Amino acid sequence: MQIVNTINALRTIVKEQKKQGKTVGLVPTMGYLHEGHLSLMTEAKKTTDFVVVSIFVNPTQFGPNEDLATYPRDLARDAALCESVLVDLIFAPDVDEMYPVSYSTYVDCEGSITKQLCGASRPSHFKGVTSVVSKLFNIVMPDVAFFGQKDAQQVAVIEKMVKELNFDLTIKACPIVRELDGLAMSSRNAYLSPEERQSALVLSQALNHAKKAIEAGVTETKTLVEAMRQHIESNPHATVDYIEIVDSRTLESIETLGDDILVALAVKIGKTRLIDNFRQRSASL
Ligand code: PAJ
Repeated sequence: MQIVNTINALRTIVKEQKKQGKTVGLVPTMGYLHEGHLSLMTEAKKTTDFVVVSIFVNPTQFGPNEDLATYPRDLARDAALCESVLVDLIFAPDVDEMYPVSYSTYVDCEGSITKQLCGASRPSHFKGVTSVVSKLFNIVMPDVAFFGQKDAQQVAVIEKMVKELNFDLTIKACPIVRELDGLAMSSRNAYLSPEERQSALVLSQALNHAKKAIEAGVTETKTLVEAMRQHIESNPHATVDYIEIVDSRTLESIETLGDDILVALAVKIGKTRLIDNFRQRSASL
Protein backbone atom coordinates (compact mmCIF):
# COMPACT_ATOMS: atom_id res chain seq x y z
CA MET A 1 0.00 0.00 0.00
CA GLN A 2 1.28 3.45 -0.89
CA ILE A 3 0.57 6.73 0.92
CA VAL A 4 0.76 9.91 -1.16
CA ASN A 5 0.23 13.51 -0.16
CA THR A 6 0.24 15.35 -3.48
CA ILE A 7 -2.28 15.54 -6.30
CA ASN A 8 0.46 15.03 -8.90
CA ALA A 9 1.79 11.84 -7.29
CA LEU A 10 -1.74 10.48 -6.95
CA ARG A 11 -2.58 11.24 -10.59
CA THR A 12 0.58 9.58 -11.91
CA ILE A 13 -0.17 6.36 -10.04
CA VAL A 14 -3.87 6.24 -10.91
CA LYS A 15 -3.17 6.98 -14.60
CA GLU A 16 -0.76 4.04 -14.73
CA GLN A 17 -3.37 1.73 -13.15
CA LYS A 18 -6.01 2.89 -15.66
CA LYS A 19 -3.56 2.35 -18.53
CA GLN A 20 -3.30 -1.26 -17.36
CA GLY A 21 -7.08 -1.54 -17.68
CA LYS A 22 -7.78 -1.50 -13.94
CA THR A 23 -11.00 -0.06 -12.55
CA VAL A 24 -10.56 2.48 -9.75
CA GLY A 25 -12.62 2.72 -6.55
CA LEU A 26 -12.60 5.76 -4.25
CA VAL A 27 -13.58 5.81 -0.57
CA PRO A 28 -13.53 9.42 0.68
CA THR A 29 -13.04 9.73 4.46
CA MET A 30 -11.93 12.18 7.11
CA GLY A 31 -9.93 9.45 8.86
CA TYR A 32 -10.01 8.12 12.42
CA LEU A 33 -11.30 5.01 10.76
CA HIS A 34 -13.70 2.45 12.20
CA GLU A 35 -15.57 -0.63 10.97
CA GLY A 36 -18.06 1.58 9.12
CA HIS A 37 -15.29 3.04 6.96
CA LEU A 38 -13.67 -0.38 6.55
CA SER A 39 -16.95 -1.84 5.25
CA LEU A 40 -16.84 0.70 2.39
CA MET A 41 -13.25 -0.30 1.59
CA THR A 42 -14.13 -4.01 1.64
CA GLU A 43 -17.01 -3.31 -0.75
CA ALA A 44 -14.68 -1.23 -2.93
CA LYS A 45 -12.14 -4.06 -3.00
CA LYS A 46 -14.88 -6.47 -4.16
CA THR A 47 -16.13 -4.12 -6.87
CA THR A 48 -13.02 -2.42 -8.29
CA ASP A 49 -9.39 -3.38 -9.01
CA PHE A 50 -7.50 -0.46 -7.45
CA VAL A 51 -8.86 1.11 -4.27
CA VAL A 52 -7.95 4.65 -3.23
CA VAL A 53 -8.91 5.88 0.25
CA SER A 54 -8.71 9.62 0.83
CA ILE A 55 -8.06 10.81 4.38
CA PHE A 56 -8.65 14.53 4.66
CA VAL A 57 -10.34 16.46 7.46
CA ASN A 58 -12.03 18.92 5.15
CA PRO A 59 -12.13 22.39 6.76
CA THR A 60 -14.77 23.79 4.38
CA GLN A 61 -17.49 21.45 5.67
CA PHE A 62 -17.11 22.55 9.31
CA GLY A 63 -19.03 25.57 10.64
CA PRO A 64 -17.26 28.28 12.67
CA ASN A 65 -18.27 26.80 16.05
CA GLU A 66 -17.81 23.17 15.10
CA ASP A 67 -15.13 20.59 15.93
CA LEU A 68 -12.55 21.09 13.12
CA ALA A 69 -9.69 21.73 15.58
CA THR A 70 -10.50 18.76 17.81
CA TYR A 71 -11.60 16.28 15.13
CA PRO A 72 -9.70 13.05 15.97
CA ARG A 73 -6.70 12.27 13.74
CA ASP A 74 -4.29 9.30 13.68
CA LEU A 75 -2.78 8.61 10.26
CA ALA A 76 -0.52 5.76 11.42
CA ARG A 77 -3.46 3.87 12.91
CA ASP A 78 -5.61 4.61 9.84
CA ALA A 79 -2.86 3.35 7.51
CA ALA A 80 -2.63 0.04 9.41
CA LEU A 81 -6.43 -0.38 9.18
CA CYS A 82 -6.42 0.38 5.44
CA GLU A 83 -3.62 -2.11 4.91
CA SER A 84 -5.62 -4.77 6.80
CA VAL A 85 -8.41 -4.57 4.20
CA LEU A 86 -5.97 -4.44 1.27
CA VAL A 87 -6.45 -0.83 0.23
CA ASP A 88 -4.03 0.00 -2.59
CA LEU A 89 -3.38 3.66 -1.95
CA ILE A 90 -4.06 6.34 0.67
CA PHE A 91 -4.33 9.93 -0.48
CA ALA A 92 -3.69 12.16 2.55
CA PRO A 93 -3.17 15.73 1.33
CA ASP A 94 -2.43 18.75 3.53
CA VAL A 95 -4.99 21.54 3.63
CA ASP A 96 -2.70 23.68 1.39
CA GLU A 97 -2.63 20.97 -1.27
CA MET A 98 -6.43 20.97 -1.52
CA TYR A 99 -7.02 24.66 -0.82
CA PRO A 100 -3.97 26.73 -1.81
CA VAL A 101 -3.76 30.39 -0.78
CA SER A 102 -6.49 32.46 -2.51
CA TYR A 103 -8.61 29.36 -3.24
CA SER A 104 -12.18 30.46 -4.03
CA THR A 105 -14.05 27.87 -6.15
CA TYR A 106 -16.98 25.95 -4.64
CA VAL A 107 -19.65 23.52 -5.80
CA ASP A 108 -23.02 24.18 -4.20
CA CYS A 109 -26.10 22.02 -4.58
CA GLU A 110 -28.92 24.50 -4.00
CA GLY A 111 -32.46 23.94 -2.79
CA SER A 112 -34.27 22.08 -0.05
CA ILE A 113 -32.11 18.96 -0.35
CA THR A 114 -29.23 20.79 1.38
CA LYS A 115 -31.32 23.19 3.46
CA GLN A 116 -33.21 20.76 5.67
CA LEU A 117 -32.22 17.98 8.08
CA CYS A 118 -28.49 18.46 8.77
CA GLY A 119 -28.41 21.50 6.46
CA ALA A 120 -30.74 23.42 8.78
CA SER A 121 -28.31 23.43 11.70
CA ARG A 122 -25.15 23.23 9.52
CA PRO A 123 -25.89 25.82 6.77
CA SER A 124 -22.55 25.66 4.94
CA HIS A 125 -21.82 21.99 5.56
CA PHE A 126 -23.01 20.48 2.27
CA LYS A 127 -21.31 23.16 0.19
CA GLY A 128 -18.04 22.07 1.80
CA VAL A 129 -18.86 18.40 1.19
CA THR A 130 -19.86 18.82 -2.47
CA SER A 131 -16.81 21.00 -3.11
CA VAL A 132 -14.28 18.60 -1.64
CA VAL A 133 -15.95 15.52 -3.11
CA SER A 134 -15.95 17.16 -6.59
CA LYS A 135 -12.26 17.88 -6.17
CA LEU A 136 -11.60 14.28 -5.11
CA PHE A 137 -13.59 12.98 -8.10
CA ASN A 138 -11.57 15.19 -10.45
CA ILE A 139 -8.27 14.22 -8.83
CA VAL A 140 -8.82 10.45 -8.56
CA MET A 141 -11.22 9.97 -11.52
CA PRO A 142 -12.75 6.84 -9.94
CA ASP A 143 -15.10 4.47 -11.75
CA VAL A 144 -17.04 3.89 -8.53
CA ALA A 145 -17.14 5.98 -5.32
CA PHE A 146 -18.36 4.48 -2.05
CA PHE A 147 -20.38 6.30 0.62
CA GLY A 148 -22.16 5.19 3.80
CA GLN A 149 -25.92 5.30 4.25
CA LYS A 150 -25.13 6.50 7.81
CA ASP A 151 -24.93 9.95 6.17
CA ALA A 152 -28.11 9.48 4.15
CA GLN A 153 -28.48 13.14 3.24
CA GLN A 154 -24.85 13.28 2.09
CA VAL A 155 -25.52 10.32 -0.23
CA ALA A 156 -28.65 11.99 -1.66
CA VAL A 157 -26.82 15.30 -2.22
CA ILE A 158 -23.81 13.64 -3.85
CA GLU A 159 -26.01 11.50 -6.11
CA LYS A 160 -27.83 14.65 -7.24
CA MET A 161 -24.54 16.47 -7.83
CA VAL A 162 -23.09 13.55 -9.83
CA LYS A 163 -26.18 13.46 -12.01
CA GLU A 164 -26.46 17.21 -12.52
CA LEU A 165 -22.73 17.86 -13.10
CA ASN A 166 -22.40 14.74 -15.30
CA PHE A 167 -19.57 13.13 -13.37
CA ASP A 168 -18.70 9.93 -15.22
CA LEU A 169 -18.81 7.56 -12.26
CA THR A 170 -21.15 5.42 -10.18
CA ILE A 171 -22.05 6.07 -6.55
CA LYS A 172 -22.43 3.01 -4.36
CA ALA A 173 -24.24 3.53 -1.03
CA CYS A 174 -23.34 0.99 1.66
CA PRO A 175 -25.33 -0.03 4.78
CA ILE A 176 -24.84 1.48 8.26
CA VAL A 177 -22.40 -0.46 10.45
CA ARG A 178 -23.32 -0.48 14.16
CA GLU A 179 -21.72 -1.39 17.46
CA LEU A 180 -23.15 -4.57 19.04
CA ASP A 181 -25.53 -2.51 21.18
CA GLY A 182 -26.93 -0.62 18.17
CA LEU A 183 -24.99 2.66 18.22
CA ALA A 184 -24.06 3.65 14.66
CA MET A 185 -20.28 3.76 14.33
CA SER A 186 -18.84 7.27 14.01
CA SER A 187 -15.44 8.88 14.48
CA ARG A 188 -17.23 11.34 16.79
CA ASN A 189 -18.21 8.52 19.20
CA ALA A 190 -14.64 8.96 20.51
CA TYR A 191 -15.79 12.23 22.13
CA LEU A 192 -18.34 10.48 24.39
CA SER A 193 -17.71 9.92 28.11
CA PRO A 194 -18.69 6.41 29.32
CA GLU A 195 -21.97 7.79 30.64
CA GLU A 196 -22.68 9.65 27.37
CA ARG A 197 -21.78 6.53 25.39
CA GLN A 198 -24.62 4.75 27.22
CA SER A 199 -26.99 7.68 26.62
CA ALA A 200 -26.14 7.66 22.91
CA LEU A 201 -28.17 4.47 22.60
CA VAL A 202 -31.33 6.61 22.56
CA LEU A 203 -30.78 7.32 18.85
CA SER A 204 -30.94 3.72 17.64
CA GLN A 205 -33.56 2.84 20.27
CA ALA A 206 -35.86 5.61 19.05
CA LEU A 207 -35.42 4.44 15.44
CA ASN A 208 -36.21 0.86 16.48
CA HIS A 209 -39.37 2.02 18.25
CA ALA A 210 -40.41 3.81 15.07
CA LYS A 211 -39.73 0.70 12.98
CA LYS A 212 -41.94 -1.36 15.29
CA ALA A 213 -44.71 1.26 15.26
CA ILE A 214 -44.61 1.29 11.44
CA GLU A 215 -44.83 -2.52 11.40
CA ALA A 216 -47.80 -2.24 13.74
CA GLY A 217 -49.56 -0.02 11.20
CA VAL A 218 -48.89 3.59 12.29
CA THR A 219 -48.73 5.74 9.15
CA GLU A 220 -48.93 9.30 10.48
CA THR A 221 -45.41 10.73 10.65
CA LYS A 222 -46.31 13.22 13.41
CA THR A 223 -47.23 10.35 15.75
CA LEU A 224 -43.99 8.52 14.97
CA VAL A 225 -41.84 11.62 15.41
CA GLU A 226 -43.48 12.52 18.74
CA ALA A 227 -42.90 9.03 20.16
CA MET A 228 -39.21 9.20 19.12
CA ARG A 229 -38.86 12.69 20.61
CA GLN A 230 -40.34 11.56 23.93
CA HIS A 231 -37.98 8.61 24.15
CA ILE A 232 -34.91 10.72 23.37
CA GLU A 233 -35.85 13.64 25.60
CA SER A 234 -36.35 11.32 28.58
CA ASN A 235 -32.54 11.04 28.63
CA PRO A 236 -30.90 13.93 30.53
CA HIS A 237 -27.80 14.01 28.25
CA ALA A 238 -29.79 14.16 25.01
CA THR A 239 -30.99 17.25 23.12
CA VAL A 240 -32.85 16.76 19.85
CA ASP A 241 -31.55 18.72 16.84
CA TYR A 242 -34.11 17.21 14.46
CA ILE A 243 -36.26 14.12 14.01
CA GLU A 244 -37.77 13.92 10.55
CA ILE A 245 -39.52 11.52 8.27
CA VAL A 246 -38.98 12.41 4.62
CA ASP A 247 -39.22 10.98 1.13
CA SER A 248 -35.87 9.17 0.61
CA ARG A 249 -35.34 10.53 -2.88
CA THR A 250 -36.29 14.19 -2.47
CA LEU A 251 -35.79 14.53 1.32
CA GLU A 252 -39.08 16.50 1.40
CA SER A 253 -41.12 16.16 4.62
CA ILE A 254 -44.14 13.89 4.42
CA GLU A 255 -47.26 13.65 6.59
CA THR A 256 -48.17 10.06 5.82
CA LEU A 257 -45.72 7.25 5.12
CA GLY A 258 -44.94 6.67 1.44
CA ASP A 259 -43.31 3.79 -0.42
CA ASP A 260 -39.71 4.95 0.13
CA ILE A 261 -39.11 6.83 3.35
CA LEU A 262 -36.15 7.97 5.40
CA VAL A 263 -36.48 8.34 9.15
CA ALA A 264 -33.55 10.53 10.18
CA LEU A 265 -32.45 12.18 13.37
CA ALA A 266 -29.66 14.27 14.85
CA VAL A 267 -29.21 14.43 18.59
CA LYS A 268 -26.66 16.12 20.79
CA ILE A 269 -25.35 13.86 23.53
CA GLY A 270 -23.65 16.31 25.83
CA LYS A 271 -21.67 18.42 23.35
CA THR A 272 -21.39 15.70 20.70
CA ARG A 273 -23.81 15.82 17.77
CA LEU A 274 -24.67 12.35 16.46
CA ILE A 275 -26.84 11.29 13.53
CA ASP A 276 -28.64 8.07 12.63
CA ASN A 277 -31.40 6.94 10.29
CA PHE A 278 -33.16 4.10 8.58
CA ARG A 279 -34.65 3.88 5.13
CA GLN A 280 -37.73 1.82 4.43
CA ARG A 281 -38.80 0.90 0.95
CA SER A 282 -41.94 -1.02 0.09
CA ALA A 283 -41.17 -4.47 -1.32
CA SER A 284 -42.65 -3.51 -4.71
CA LEU A 285 -39.91 -0.91 -5.40
P1 PAJ B 1 -16.44 10.50 7.32
O1 PAJ B 1 -17.37 10.96 8.39
O2 PAJ B 1 -15.04 10.12 7.69
O3 PAJ B 1 -17.13 9.27 6.62
C1 PAJ B 1 -16.55 8.70 5.47
C2 PAJ B 1 -17.54 7.72 4.88
O4 PAJ B 1 -17.79 6.67 5.81
C3 PAJ B 1 -18.90 8.38 4.58
O5 PAJ B 1 -19.39 7.92 3.33
C4 PAJ B 1 -19.76 7.88 5.73
O6 PAJ B 1 -21.15 7.83 5.43
C5 PAJ B 1 -19.19 6.49 5.95
N1 PAJ B 1 -19.52 6.01 7.29
C6 PAJ B 1 -19.30 6.65 8.47
N2 PAJ B 1 -19.82 5.92 9.50
C7 PAJ B 1 -20.38 4.82 8.95
C8 PAJ B 1 -21.08 3.69 9.48
N3 PAJ B 1 -21.30 3.55 10.76
N4 PAJ B 1 -21.51 2.75 8.61
C9 PAJ B 1 -21.30 2.88 7.27
N5 PAJ B 1 -20.65 3.92 6.71
C10 PAJ B 1 -20.19 4.87 7.53
O7 PAJ B 1 -18.47 11.63 5.44
C11 PAJ B 1 -17.36 12.15 5.48
O8 PAJ B 1 -16.31 11.63 6.18
C12 PAJ B 1 -17.03 13.43 4.71
O9 PAJ B 1 -18.16 14.22 4.62
C13 PAJ B 1 -16.46 13.17 3.30
C14 PAJ B 1 -17.46 12.45 2.39
C15 PAJ B 1 -15.15 12.36 3.38
C16 PAJ B 1 -16.11 14.53 2.63
O10 PAJ B 1 -15.19 15.23 3.38
